[in-house]
Amino acid sequence: MNQTKTLHLHPDATGLARAAALLADGALVAFPTETVYGLGADARNGKAVAGIYAAKGRPSFNPLIVHVPDVAAARTLTQWTDTADRLAAVFWPGALTLVLPLAAGHGLSSLVTAGLNTVAIRVPHHPTAQALLRAANMPVAAPSANVSGRISPTTAQHVLDGLSGRIAAVLDDGPCPVGVESTIVSLTGTPTLLRPGGLPVEAIEAALGAPLQRHSSDAITAPGQLASHYAPGASVRLNATSATAGEVMLGFGDIAGDLTLSASGDLSEAAAALFDALHKLDRTGKPIAVAPIPHTGLGAAINDRLNRAAAPR
Ligand code: TXA
Ligand code: MG
Repeated sequence: MNQTKTLHLHPDATGLARAAALLADGALVAFPTETVYGLGADARNGKAVAGIYAAKGRPSFNPLIVHVPDVAAARTLTQWTDTADRLAAVFWPGALTLVLPLAAGHGLSSLVTAGLNTVAIRVPHHPTAQALLRAANMPVAAPSANVSGRISPTTAQHVLDGLSGRIAAVLDDGPCPVGVESTIVSLTGTPTLLRPGGLPVEAIEAALGAPLQRHSSDAITAPGQLASHYAPGASVRLNATSATAGEVMLGFGDIAGDLTLSASGDLSEAAAALFDALHKLDRTGKPIAVAPIPHTGLGAAINDRLNRAAAPR
């Protein structure tokens, strides 16, 4: 990987134009979404997409999420369905990714889809993501902008800590408001939850009027399902009511800690704080004890990420 100086861009007209021009050139640009920072590349350009895998040190060519500004753009890339229409009408733009069969003549690099005949597609809500997608006028492939297997980035500084010198630029628009990755639903058959995330499953099921099928654990189609994804360097102990000697404590609700995800027990606040708290506690070099988090609403995504952080590796 070539060393490049990573530009730190502001999300004003100049910064957005620069970021769009870099994408058009096949360069890598990290940008904020409401969930986490993404590492973007032109999804039609195989060399650019290969750069994502190289910069992240992603071990294999797992499929990436393609970001577009609106439903019309999503329709040109996919075999759109009535169910997609129903979910998009309620939740796009937002923290929902839909997996759909590819349209004929989609033009995406096969590296984006890892050779599958389906694509994961998302319309982000974040104003800077929207502005960049419109300025770039191309589908943008973007996984989370972190080194593979490490904690996801919710600030530009997190991105730079992991990827400085390996990517052309980061568009800095402060912390991500949701704080955990999008919820992924496959619509290639019976609607199926592939990854819990920033949009609560309950909301999706209410919109569908039916429960989502849960993904069977024997077929790994998402690297988020690998045990040691999202891992900090130190060990993580879950459902702890207090820290033992030598541990730092991540609190929630009534259980205070060295840091707390939400003193009032608010799950949205906790999701937004999660990765930054893990980055900070990781820097202490001490093992991390984590208070119990409810499993409802955004708690499903928070527990999913914590379970992976705690998994043996
Ligand atoms: O919030 C998010 O989703 C962030 C922001 C940047 O948009 N992106 C993100 O991307 O989390 P990434 O690459 O870290 O996760 C993409 C997930 C992976 O678990 C991948 O396996 C799954 O989506 N995926 C992508 N294409 C797929 C497909 N065709 N079928 C099934 N799963 C797919
Ligand atoms: Mg990721």
